[in-house]
Amino acid sequence: MGAKSTGPISPNHLIEVVKTAAKTGAQVVMDAVNKPRNITYKGLTDLVTETDKMSEAAILEVVKKNFDDHLILGEEGGIIGDAASDYLWCIDPLDGTTNFAHGYPSFAVSVGVLYRGNPAAAAVVEFVGGPMCWNTRIFSATAGGGAFCNGERIQVSATNQVERSLLVTGFGYDHDDAWATNIDLFKEFTDVSRGVRRLGAASVDMCHVALGIVEAYWEYRLKPWDMAAGVLIVEEAGGAVTRMDGGKFCVFDRSVLVSNGALHAKLLEKIGPPTEKLKNNGIDFSLWYKPKDYRADV
Ligand code: IPD
Ligand code: CA
Ligand code: CA
Repeated sequence: MGAKSTGPISPNHLIEVVKTAAKTGAQVVMDAVNKPRNITYKGLTDLVTETDKMSEAAILEVVKKNFDDHLILGEEGGIIGDAASDYLWCIDPLDGTTNFAHGYPSFAVSVGVLYRGNPAAAAVVEFVGGPMCWNTRIFSATAGGGAFCNGERIQVSATNQVERSLLVTGFGYDHDDAWATNIDLFKEFTDVSRGVRRLGAASVDMCHVALGIVEAYWEYRLKPWDMAAGVLIVEEAGGAVTRMDGGKFCVFDRSVLVSNGALHAKLLEKIGPPTEKLKNNGIDFSLWYKPKDYRADV
């Protein structure tokens, strides 16, 4: 029987269901990882596989069984459930689909739950290794309860010099003005840091900041399901999360910068001005994908 969301759910209960949901999706992905892919296209290069859909279906089953009145935003299925709920599940059943389709490491299942618009619990199951040796590790966090990888507490790095940092970014499928601006940022930071990586799975990139193996990650135009879990994991690992103009972030925003905190202001010196320029040129940075009537205190 599903529980009613009449009041806040205990963090322990919520995180157990979040982790079960993410692991259930990951099992679907693991079962498919060494088999031929059934690919269809959302755009010229934006692909989707049967596995994306099957993983989402498996995750939804877990969520509905436990909380039948919660609101859900899944990448593949859109919005379902009760908009009056305080809880919104943001589900990316396969983040890094292109990598998955190629058998290239860096993809994940990402499940984040918001309470009135703010991340409350998160789990990301990252696939590591490669063909013939796939494995997984699970990142998790609850608001105020710290961040973990395979049950061990994790923390961001302490690096405070750009020239000693390893950075990560990403580029969406729309090759618009924001994409072009980020190509320039990629060049600029490649020149002054130890390097800028582009792995191709936003949730994984954020977990790597939380793990302290890279210092920062940014991207324009991500969706709530890309970010809801990752941003909480970074914050709970002691990192900082803002929009790319430096403003207060919420998961319905169209830009995100996550870092170890120590580097945040220095990165914003370079990232903020071109983002302001995009805004001044009329590029839309208003909130998106916020379900109508969902109460978000953001
Ligand atoms: C994509 C990945 C990628 C990012 C794109 C996302 P998908 O998600 O997270 O790293 O650059 O913006 O759309 O389509 O593989 O779930
Ligand atoms: Ca994604
Ligand atoms: Ca996806």
